[in-house]
Amino acid sequence: MTTATATLTGSSFTFISDLVRERSAIVLEPGKSYLVESRLSPVAREQGLHSVDELVDALRRPGAQALTRKVVEAMTTNETSFFRDLHPFEALKTSILPELINNRARERTLSIWSNACSSGQEVYTIAMILREHFPQLTGWKVRLIASDLSTQILAKARQGIFNQTEVNRGLPLPMLLKYFQKSGLTWQVKDEIRNMVEFCEINLVEAWPVLPPMDVIFLRNVLIYFSPETKKEILGKARQVLRPDGYMFLGGAETTMNLDSAFDRVTVGKATCYRIGKPC
Ligand SMILES: C[S@@+](CC[C@H](N)C(=O)[O-])C[C@H]1O[C@@H](n2cnc3c(N)ncnc32)[C@H](O)[C@@H]1O
Repeated sequence: MTTATATLTGSSFTFISDLVRERSAIVLEPGKSYLVESRLSPVAREQGLHSVDELVDALRRPGAQALTRKVVEAMTTNETSFFRDLHPFEALKTSILPELINNRARERTLSIWSNACSSGQEVYTIAMILREHFPQLTGWKVRLIASDLSTQILAKARQGIFNQTEVNRGLPLPMLLKYFQKSGLTWQVKDEIRNMVEFCEINLVEAWPVLPPMDVIFLRNVLIYFSPETKKEILGKARQVLRPDGYMFLGGAETTMNLDSAFDRVTVGKATCYRIGKPC
């Protein structure tokens, strides 16, 4: 068996951090060499290479597009869980959705976007809330869009198959039993929930496809990886997509402050969210 050894040189680190920043906007600060090593050693091994330096040599050769994609995807962090941080979902259920459903009573449409959705726990949480608490949406055009940069993680999200550890994180037992079916050692989201979601590949720093005007945008735990300029650019684009009375959620360590003054920070129950402010 080929083993990849820990030999990452400074120039390899620079090459990888430039590549990753260019393709995904993720910033790898100096000192993150260990992270590159640990994420890319398995990729090197899979390619039959002995080290990440050899992997970098392969990436420098022409025609390395597929490998480049693999490397960028391997450098993303896919940490997520069902009902992550809880408060945004409580706010969605008790205040935001009732208000938006009231506002949209005539047009009977609702669009929600789970951005940088990783393996799908966030969007399936939203789908279960809709199904469990809002039977009045039957007959409405509800679009639940989930997107990520990574084709690999999107394939997992689409399948909706989770292991016991994943379902143990945040998912209430009654919801597990109601909306998942057990298959061997794993649990799969039932089709009635899975079919509510449209998955698509969107790289936040590339051109966005045409999207419906969004009532709620979840843009959580992804801006943290970007430079302030990239955050500004993405928040500006999100503002164009969000409806004037819509809501946006960011991750707990993220804010629009000092980045986009058009957003107001509001508290709904115990959740913090962002709304487009009225012009002065
Ligand atoms: C930490 S996960 C966040 C998952 C989920 N939003 C949550 O809060 O639980 C970050 C996700 O951002 C995605 N990502 C990183 N850079 C991206 C980019 N430029 N465009 C779209 N998604 C990106 C990664 O693939 C990863 O799945």
